[in-house]
Amino acid sequence: MKKTDFLVIGSGIAGLTYALKMAEQFPDKRITVVTKAAADETNTKYAQGGIAGVTDFENDSFEKHINDTLIAGDGLCNAHIVEIVVKEGVERIRELIGWGAQFDKDADGDYSLGREGGHSEYRILHHKDITGKEMERALLEKVKQYSNIEIIKHWFVIDLLTQHHLGFLVTKSTPNIQCYGVYALNTSTHQIEKIIAGHTLLATGGNGQVYRSTTNPSIATGDGVSMVYRAKGRIENMEFIQFHPTALYEPGTGGQAFLITEAVRGDGAILRNKHGEAFMERYDERKDLAPRDIVARAIDNEMKITGTEHVYLDCRHMDQAKFIHHFPNIYEKCLSLGIDITKSMIPVAPAAHYSCGGIKTDEWGRTSILNLYAAGECASTGLHGANRLASNSLLEAMVFGHRAFVHASQQVTELIDPDRIPDWDAGGTTDPREMILITQSLKELQLLMSDYVGIVRADVRLERAMKRLDLLWVETEQLYITTKVSPQLCELRNMISVAFLIVKMAQFRKESRGLHYNTDYPEKSELLQNIVL
Ligand code: FAD
Ligand code: SIN
Repeated sequence: MKKTDFLVIGSGIAGLTYALKMAEQFPDKRITVVTKAAADETNTKYAQGGIAGVTDFENDSFEKHINDTLIAGDGLCNAHIVEIVVKEGVERIRELIGWGAQFDKDADGDYSLGREGGHSEYRILHHKDITGKEMERALLEKVKQYSNIEIIKHWFVIDLLTQHHLGFLVTKSTPNIQCYGVYALNTSTHQIEKIIAGHTLLATGGNGQVYRSTTNPSIATGDGVSMVYRAKGRIENMEFIQFHPTALYEPGTGGQAFLITEAVRGDGAILRNKHGEAFMERYDERKDLAPRDIVARAIDNEMKITGTEHVYLDCRHMDQAKFIHHFPNIYEKCLSLGIDITKSMIPVAPAAHYSCGGIKTDEWGRTSILNLYAAGECASTGLHGANRLASNSLLEAMVFGHRAFVHASQQVTELIDPDRIPDWDAGGTTDPREMILITQSLKELQLLMSDYVGIVRADVRLERAMKRLDLLWVETEQLYITTKVSPQLCELRNMISVAFLIVKMAQFRKESRGLHYNTDYPEKSELLQNIVL
């Protein structure tokens, strides 16, 4: 059993921003960061394009960034939250630079700003094409300066502790559900321990692994969303899954797809179909730099028309030296596959990339459960609406990591007596004997989500997906009850819950808006609605 004042689940940008601020404010309090993997194995580490923020006030303005975010969000952004993120984001970027993060500069010493789909100006700070790696490095380096931050690696958080664990019946309509900490699996001892906390922040990232092809690393299994849903907290707008238009197409490889950052299109790369046609002009006047939902749908359509599994990104006309300077990682990756970007086009296809919905939070990162906050990709703050503007998520994670800190730091909370929370009961369970029961179900889940709940949806496909999910759920619950829990089993269970929420909310939304396109309801409804379960 462990006790801590402030518990953080997740060591990406949202979790570490919050932890650093708490540690600075309260040198005598304990801040415990738990992560199920290595400290830097996060979606944050893989961010390429950069972080959006208004720093060039001569050409850009808060109003322009706000407007671009609202347009991308297709009517569903919360305008108040958009204003908060855009305006406060600049201060958070300055702090991050103060913590040691390096962003590229031009010959005059000014920040060299990139541009991506949906942005009307050049406003994206970046570190080559490995911005996230640099940010994660700087954050973890800064954490070392605080002896009151403990990072516990390779512990898998299973569930939130609430009144349910005190023996009360907790339902969606129970008022004042409260979080007392978590149960977590220490993967080196295989013991499940209680971590009792005054305040808990969920910063568990995204859920791209629910799909067969994703830019997300293996940690992105929607654990935080699933835990809150089980604890009867509120989840919002899960149907808005963003597919990145240009993941590198590598046939035969499974798992995480390598991203070709949108910044490459920002610097002039052109999408072409199998016939070499620059097709984006047929879909949107902003062509290759239209918002992501439009570009991903256009590619999906081109692939269907031409019967191919990918389109091409043409960089052949671009300045080679400039390309290598800005995108060295992409250049090397392509070269390692025999693709010289100066001579050949890059095969690309859309892949699941970002979850716009998630744990419903207010303007201070508070969830519907007391003493429980959420920030970063696992949260639904209202910033993204129906479609996230490129490079707004790192910004949002820092703004809400900070805001959750501001709110939590002003609350006085007593830790619950640990003896009131029962130890984890593993009675009646046996060691899992057949991993195939988990791995095969995972494959089925990813396949059905990609085939039935992808970029283009239809009622009949959603209905089929739900029927198959029901079966997977029943089988997995049976395994969960009878075998000793493992991270793989918990992740599968969490992903099935997340998939259920995506499908259920997609079924509720009787319109096409932003990232949700249903051929049975191709128009936008006049009713602006957030879907909350
Ligand atoms: P993460 O950084 O994903 O961290 C999640 C943490 O939670 C991890 O430490 C994980 O181990 C931990 N965790 C999860 N579940 C558990 C559990 N059960 N128990 C214990 N620990 C757990 N956004 C931009 O703004 N700009 C970009 O250029 C950009 N490029 C991207 C490129 C790629 C390839 C990808 C995948 C994403 C990109 N994004 C970008 C999105 C952005 O990187 C993420 O949304 C953001 O980093 C999420 O940060 P986070 O702190 O919320 O979560
Ligand atoms: C990219 O670099 O294309 C990803 C940016 C993002 O997801 O915001």
